[in-house]
Amino acid sequence: MLHRLFMIIGFVTILLISVFGSYNPAFVAEDNVAAPSDMCATFVTIHGYKCHEYEVSTDDGYILSAQRIPQGRVGGSSRNRQPVLLQHGILVDGATWVMNSAEQSLAMILADSGFDVWIANTRGTRYSLRHRNLHSYNSDYWNWSWDDLVVQDLPTFVNLVYKQSGQKTHYVGHSLGTLIALASFSEGRRIDKIKSAALLSPIAYLSHMTTALGVVTARSFLGEITTIFGLAEFNPTSAPVSIFVKALCAQRGINCYDFLTALTGKNCCLNASTVDLFLKNEPQPTSTKNFVHLAQTVRDGILRKYDYGSFISNLAHYGSVKPPLYNLANIPRDLPLFLSYGGQDALSSTKDVETLLDHLKNHDVGKLHVQYVKDFAHADFILGTTAKDIVFNQIITFFSNQH
Ligand SMILES: *[C@@H]1O[C@H](CO)[C@@H](O)[C@H](O)[C@H]1NC(C)=O
Ligand SMILES: *[C@@H]1O[C@H](CO)[C@@H](O)[C@H](O)[C@H]1NC(C)=O
Repeated sequence: MLHRLFMIIGFVTILLISVFGSYNPAFVAEDNVAAPSDMCATFVTIHGYKCHEYEVSTDDGYILSAQRIPQGRVGGSSRNRQPVLLQHGILVDGATWVMNSAEQSLAMILADSGFDVWIANTRGTRYSLRHRNLHSYNSDYWNWSWDDLVVQDLPTFVNLVYKQSGQKTHYVGHSLGTLIALASFSEGRRIDKIKSAALLSPIAYLSHMTTALGVVTARSFLGEITTIFGLAEFNPTSAPVSIFVKALCAQRGINCYDFLTALTGKNCCLNASTVDLFLKNEPQPTSTKNFVHLAQTVRDGILRKYDYGSFISNLAHYGSVKPPLYNLANIPRDLPLFLSYGGQDALSSTKDVETLLDHLKNHDVGKLHVQYVKDFAHADFILGTTAKDIVFNQIITFFSNQH
């Protein structure tokens, strides 16, 4: 029994660390009270950039925030700056794009390169924690999975950028930000407002995660996660989750700091002071239902909508006994795509990226650019000190070549 419990904990831990946090037992629980975003002031204007806060509502009532860095430090002409929308991964928020120095952070590099930069914050994270009529203490607030990010959050942000800038947008996604984009594009959502997309550490398929404990437990104990935690908020800093994680760290003699390496892969190029800043600001909550949906993706090896677990429930929600598939072959073949993946990435494994590329095999040859970075793991793509030279400059060239 205890063993099984630890397996569940292991799975949860893996997921909560899945983007790039090692679990930090000293992390102080954040205040869940919705406050206006101070991301601009905390992370951007201190470097001498202009930064504007935006707020936008989804059709299902979530009030999301976005930050805009409209131009580089030196200003420059305001004519026709092309917008770029940055979408973070799970358990973090948009601040991860601006945690390195201005010379090393993608958002600020893009602004200095002449782009109009927009940073999205997914529902449930600290700057997007409000709803028109639900409080985040209410479990109904947390009744969503990544399907809802595909249908609601992503199209809402794309619309916001289009309305404000009057232009189609380039897109950069990391981790879960790649999955929701691929799924959304495959359904044609706002595709007419997307100019191109750069996908870093793509995670459409998850069957080959090399985080061993994660694979085993995702396959075996899917149902029990919800039994323990309920179908509501999954806050890594909340008591039930953190108590279990601490128990795991203590009892198995696992150095939780090494979890970062064990779970995301060996990041080659993180700056220690950036990691400290990261741990002060992340992880962010998400919904348990979102985790369950991701676990289903690991288990099933295919991309489909959330499985309600019974024929009857699926029939009620979808009109079919199995949840509908996302067919990535439906992504318009001429949509310019740039994929960058790392040889050390334990979450976005090279085998799974190959599966993704196989699903994109009919994409127009000239429209699909693929980069393999042998030494990079999951976090290097955002926070790596060498990411500018290796990846970000490629993204800028890629965007600049689209007309
Ligand atoms: C690490 O980050 C600090 C704070 O942003 C910065 O001053 C320092 O130059 C960085 N080191 C490297 C090697 O990039
Ligand atoms: C969650 O929302 C779905 C509709 O998307 C609904 O069918 C279901 O009953 C809700 N679950 C809970 C626990 O409220």
